[in-house]
Amino acid sequence: MVAGVMGWPIGHSLSPRLHGYWLKHHGIDGAYVPLSVHPDHFREALKALPKLGFRGANVTVPHKEQALAYVDRVSDEARRMGAVNTVVVEPDGRLSGSNTDAFGFIANLGAGCPQWTASAGPAVVLGAGGAARAVCTALLDAGAPEIQLSNRTEARARSMAADIGGPISVVPWDQRHDALADAATLVNTTTLGMVGNPPLTLDLSSLPRMALVTDIVYRPLMTPLLQGAKAHGHPIVDGLGMLLHQARPGFAAWFGVMPDVTEALRDFVLGAGSD
Ligand code: ATR
Repeated sequence: MVAGVMGWPIGHSLSPRLHGYWLKHHGIDGAYVPLSVHPDHFREALKALPKLGFRGANVTVPHKEQALAYVDRVSDEARRMGAVNTVVVEPDGRLSGSNTDAFGFIANLGAGCPQWTASAGPAVVLGAGGAARAVCTALLDAGAPEIQLSNRTEARARSMAADIGGPISVVPWDQRHDALADAATLVNTTTLGMVGNPPLTLDLSSLPRMALVTDIVYRPLMTPLLQGAKAHGHPIVDGLGMLLHQARPGFAAWFGVMPDVTEALRDFVLGAGSD
């Protein structure tokens, strides 16, 4: 049983280490390999998966949007997100594409803060890249009554809101602080706060104390946003879990076992992160 991850570049992907851990943990005689695929060859490489005997593959940057066009079947969720991150080779050799990022986001919050519910109140989402699409889709599907979306490039937020549909209102970037007043959930999906990038500047003083704060940045695990939120008494959930949880449905489809996210797994993956 073989699966892998296609990306360009692929050297920094944590997925081979993550799936390798689960294969060993479950005693499965299988392999999960990094596949360095140039964008010009992506279609060919994807279509070759059944011929090579692969059970399927993850698809990562920059191929997620292309994958949507090339698979034979697309899940509703992946279509709404405009991106495929998990491909399964069906018994008849056809390719099914899905997107597990929304699942990963919600599963991570459920594990990190069991009392949290999306329906508790409006959410504020910062950023309008690929990750923001997954987060907004996930929050709306999980019952968030409203999303206030703010991005430095406002036009990008507007087009994302139009694509996803539903109760998403766009807030100018310089007014993001004011959007926090009645929020139950705050999510940073920008790259601000990541190693090598400036921190996110955000005045948390109007955010209700019970509001959950989460960051999809996981290098460092405790971003300046999460540090500030913790100091203000908010429940916080770091971003590593989203990466780990989004991998579970693919592993289950390819190798037949739904794996768990444990502390030991987090430690193992983090060990790789500091290489
Ligand atoms: P991904 O698809 O992985 O989410 P991305 O498309 O590069 O990544 O998106 C990065 C996000 O971080 C965007 O929302 C980006 O804002 P723009 O759409 O205005 O580019 C945001 N971002 C990156 N650097 C930023 C900065 N210095 N200030 C504010 N937002 C920033």
